Amino acid sequence: MTGFRFSYLLLVLLFGVTVFVVSCDPDSGEKVAKVEEPEEDELATVYLAPDTSAIPNDEFGELVRYGRDLVKNTAYYLGPNGVKGRYLGNKMNCTNCHLDAGTRPYGLNFLSTHGRYPQYRARENRILSLAERVNNCIERPHNGIPMPLDSREMTAIISYIKWLGEGIPVNGRVEGDKGLELKLPDFQLDVNHGKTVYKQECARCHGENGEGKMFANNITYEYPPLWGKDSYQPGSSLYRVIKAAQFIKANMPYDQVNWQKMKLSDRDALDVAAYVNSEQHTRPLKEGLDYPDIKTKPIDYPFGPYNDTFSETQHKYGPYQPIIDYRKKKGLYINY
Ligand code: HEC
Ligand code: HEC
Repeated sequence: MTGFRFSYLLLVLLFGVTVFVVSCDPDSGEKVAKVEEPEEDELATVYLAPDTSAIPNDEFGELVRYGRDLVKNTAYYLGPNGVKGRYLGNKMNCTNCHLDAGTRPYGLNFLSTHGRYPQYRARENRILSLAERVNNCIERPHNGIPMPLDSREMTAIISYIKWLGEGIPVNGRVEGDKGLELKLPDFQLDVNHGKTVYKQECARCHGENGEGKMFANNITYEYPPLWGKDSYQPGSSLYRVIKAAQFIKANMPYDQVNWQKMKLSDRDALDVAAYVNSEQHTRPLKEGLDYPDIKTKPIDYPFGPYNDTFSETQHKYGPYQPIIDYRKKKGLYINY
């Protein structure tokens, strides 16, 4: 009886709090995107992936299961010693970046991906199919060579991404399928401060020299590398400082943080991303020419030429606001 009364009281209390929050912030949808931490009610509305027990027991389902396996164990199947082909140049897995096999809110998930392809891609200045977009990640973050578009492995990865997105309308977006919005400072990011954050919050797993830590079987990583020859290429999206910071803030340190419970401030996340991606660290060479149409370069893309007057250094480390303002004034493309 007392238990019943107690939980009833709790319910009343919780209900009261909810009404209070909602009535204080009626248009939270717009505002939430700008504040430091997403607010409670936004976090409750993130879109979650379908349960894997719902994968059908037919031929399509078999491909979906294989695709999920490939996303989680990419190096085993497709790595430098891959049992299904040697396409990757390193031993990372898709899930190292596309967390929880591409299902985690604010963790570079694939939930709304399938319905957004084929898509115009500024980096290539043409329309890309989803399979071609997957090959971009095999070539850049995985420093590899493209996989045949009609291979069983590519079909399986696409099937998995299609299955994940089945509840989402074509071109639909869901909460948590983009990077977290960060407040960009009015001054240049501080790589030295980023190094301090790195030593405190990251080095225990990713290593003093960003080298990560392999599992004993030498197939893949317990902690993936952040720089060095076995890490992602400078042509990868994660090499863009703002993009990397959005991921880091929502997900790192890995054992303490997710979209509901973050630790780093926006500044710390941006500074540590600047340190990780700074020129003092080596990476595999950047191959090929990106953004043949320079008008479409994201503001944090660190390689010129640009159609504005700012240096590569400023595009990389900020301050970003003058670039945004300039592009706004001239009616140019703004993206990051
Ligand atoms: C080092 C990190 C990293 C690795 C490893 C990686 N990716 Fe990506 N991938 C990214 C980033 C960053 C983006 C850009 C997301 C954005 O623009 O918001 C991306 C984008 C994508 C997209 C487009 C998503 C969309 O909604 O437009 C697909 C599909 C994709 N990756 C598939 C893969 C697959 C499959 C693998 C494994 C073979 C892989 N990626 C490995 C970092 C990575
Ligand atoms: C407790 C260990 C741990 C700590 C501490 C940690 N990470 Fe990670 N990090 C991981 C693991 C594990 C993954 C791969 C996740 C997976 O495969 O599910 C990862 C993935 C990443 C990735 C994407 C993959 C890659 O290698 O490029 C980046 C970037 C990253 N971490 C940055 C950081 C930064 C910056 C910090 C400090 C603020 C940090 N991490 C702290 C364990 C950790």
